Amino acid sequence: MSINDAPLLEVKDLSFWFEKEHTILHDISLSVPKGSLTLLSGPNGSGKSLLMRIIKGLSQCKTGTLLLDGIDVTKEQKKRMRSIGLVFQDAETQVVGQTVEKDIRFGMENLGLDAAEQQKRLDEVAALLDLSRYLDRRPKTLSGGEKRRLAIAGVLVMQPNLLILDEPFANLDWRSTVSVLTTLMRLKEEGHTILLVSHEVEKTLAHADHVLILDEGTIVLSGGKEEVYPHLQRHGIYVPTGIGIEELSWLKP
Ligand SMILES: Nc1ncnc2c1ncn2[C@@H]1O[C@H](COP(=O)(O)OP(=O)(O)OP(=O)(O)O)[C@@H](O)[C@H]1O
Ligand SMILES: [Mg+2]
Repeated sequence: MSINDAPLLEVKDLSFWFEKEHTILHDISLSVPKGSLTLLSGPNGSGKSLLMRIIKGLSQCKTGTLLLDGIDVTKEQKKRMRSIGLVFQDAETQVVGQTVEKDIRFGMENLGLDAAEQQKRLDEVAALLDLSRYLDRRPKTLSGGEKRRLAIAGVLVMQPNLLILDEPFANLDWRSTVSVLTTLMRLKEEGHTILLVSHEVEKTLAHADHVLILDEGTIVLSGGKEEVYPHLQRHGIYVPTGIGIEELSWLKP
C-alpha cells in the first residue's frame, strides 16, 4: 500500500503536566500519515510513553487537540480507546489470560464479538504472529519475544485503526527482534498504520517512513528518515554514521 499523505492521527499543541510548575510535554504537534510506519524516538524520560498513554486515552491532556482521520476526538477518550491499539512498554502487564488463547480472546470477549468472528480473528492473528502452536500454553511460560508477540496479538484482534508499540524490542535478542520487526513490516504491507516508539533507532530507521524525535517533552525533529538522520546524535540518539540508511536494516540477509 502506498502512503497517503492524509494523516490518520494529528496532535496539535498538546501539553501535559502532573504538577503545574513542572510541564512534561510542551506544545506537542505531530502527525502520523495513514499507512505509514512512523518512528517516535527520543532519550529516556523524554515523555514518549506518557504521550502514547494520552493519545490512547488512558490520560487526559491539559491543553491541545487530537484528531483521528480528521475528526476531533480530544474529548472522546472511549472512541480513542477503541480505535487505537497500544502495546505497552512492559508487555507483561498486558497479559491477563490463563492461556495464550484466552489471553488473545480477552478483549474480543469484552467487546461481545460472536464466536465465529472471534475464531476467525484468533486464527488469523495467531498465524500472522506465529503463535498458533502456543495457544494452550500458559503465558508465563513464554519467552520474552513470544510474550511480546502475544501482547501484539491481543491488541491486533481488536482491529485498531492505529497500532502503537512502545519499545517493542526491549529485552529481545537479535532473532526475536527480527521476528517482531518482520511482523511490523508485514502489518504495514497489509495497510496498517503503525506508530513505533523506540529509542533503538539503529534497528528501525531503515524501515520508517516518517520520523519524530522527542527531547525533554518537545518535538525537536520531524521528517523523512534522510532528513533527520544527520541530526540524531545531537539529540542523544545513537546511530552509526557514515553508512547509508538502508545499510542499517536488521532485515538484511
Ligand atoms: N506518574 C508519574 N508521576 C510523575 N512523573 C511521571 C509519572 N509518569 C512519568 N513521569 C515522568 O514523566 C517523564 C516522561 O516519562 P516517560 O515514561 O513518558 O518517558 P519515556 O520517554 O517513555 O522514557 P523511556 O525511554 O525510559 O521509556 C519522566 O521524567 C518521568 O519521570
Ligand atoms: Mg517509555
